[in-house]
Amino acid sequence: MNAPYGPDENRRLLRTLKGEAMWPPPVWLMRQAGRFLPEFRALREKADFLTRCMTPELATEITLQPIRRFAMDGAILFSDILVLPWAMGQSLEFIEKRGPVLTPIRSRADLDRLDPKRIPERTAPVAETLRRVRKALGGQVGIAEPNTVTLIGFAGAPFTVSCYMVDGGSSKEFAQTRLMAYSDPALYDRLIDLLTETTASMLADQIEAGAQAVMLFDSWSGLLPPREFRKHVIKPTRQIVKFLKERYPDVPVIGFPRLAGVMAPEYARETGVDAMALDTSADLTTVASQVRSDLVLQGNLDPVSVLAGGEAMLQEALAIREAGRGRPHVFNLGHGVLPETPTEHVGDLIAALRTV
Ligand code: CP3
Repeated sequence: MNAPYGPDENRRLLRTLKGEAMWPPPVWLMRQAGRFLPEFRALREKADFLTRCMTPELATEITLQPIRRFAMDGAILFSDILVLPWAMGQSLEFIEKRGPVLTPIRSRADLDRLDPKRIPERTAPVAETLRRVRKALGGQVGIAEPNTVTLIGFAGAPFTVSCYMVDGGSSKEFAQTRLMAYSDPALYDRLIDLLTETTASMLADQIEAGAQAVMLFDSWSGLLPPREFRKHVIKPTRQIVKFLKERYPDVPVIGFPRLAGVMAPEYARETGVDAMALDTSADLTTVASQVRSDLVLQGNLDPVSVLAGGEAMLQEALAIREAGRGRPHVFNLGHGVLPETPTEHVGDLIAALRTV
């Protein structure tokens, strides 16, 4: 798989995701391709969000922007977790200040109108973006040396994607989704099964197109009580990981069960993920003591500390880096970079993390 793009030795993120403890740890940031970059905001004027995701030229450029400036160890594909329901035919719009808006799925008829056969064709531009980014990373990209950056593909995990599909947009509680899981389990399980299958095959397509690692975002997993967490978070994640591992045993899978709290060790043990991303609320040292020693941990600096910048950010960042010493650890935030974050703060953070 590496053939045209050089060896993995210099890809510190990929080596860490395969279980090697490296010092200093590799770093990338969730939502690094986004609104905090002026060059992103400039492109934003040109096309709406979905158009940017589905135009390989634009999506490639946006994926590479943070690499040019900061030489992050990972480049995450510019796309969105809601591309999957959109590709199956659910209507989707991103509205300024409100976020995504979808026509909610509430019945068997709504669900049956979705057409998973359309996914490969509608996501073809995503595959093309991955091929272009992978090729670009084989050469110099801004301050990043050739073949040093690992390309990360991603999807939403079934539970989190179902939240947006059933509630129809952003919410604090996703009550409609959780209600459906209790009151019409046959319908809800059918939705989760559909998402499990389509997510697995979409991630396989991303790997075929050049993704060297993949991440599953389960941003809302922390809303579920333990029994529901096992059914709708752990089980589908395990099925997706199994499908991918049978085909691509060497491609690391990162799981992000956000706000999983006490369920995190069970998630780590039962899903088969190679790496677990921790949210801001987790204590890295505590989690490290609860999971197998070769599980890669990713995280988990508070994005608000990066907004603040200065000593507060640096102290917190170096304490987290230190907590990961001696085990495979990927430095990241506990959630996405906030749009108002000054670019200099991110520059200061990366520089401090790269001191030995
Ligand atoms: O840099 C990156 O991390 C890569 C791209 C990426 C985006 N979304 C781009 C995006 C990734 C990995 C995501 C994941 C995503 N999308 C998640 C999981 C992670 C998380 O934040 O919890 C979720 C829940 C979504 C759904 C989503 N997309 C929402 C709720 C919103 C609106 C709110 C917001 O954060 O802006 C989006 C829009 C979105 N996705 C933007 C970007 C850059 C902003 C679009 C714009 O205004 O240009």
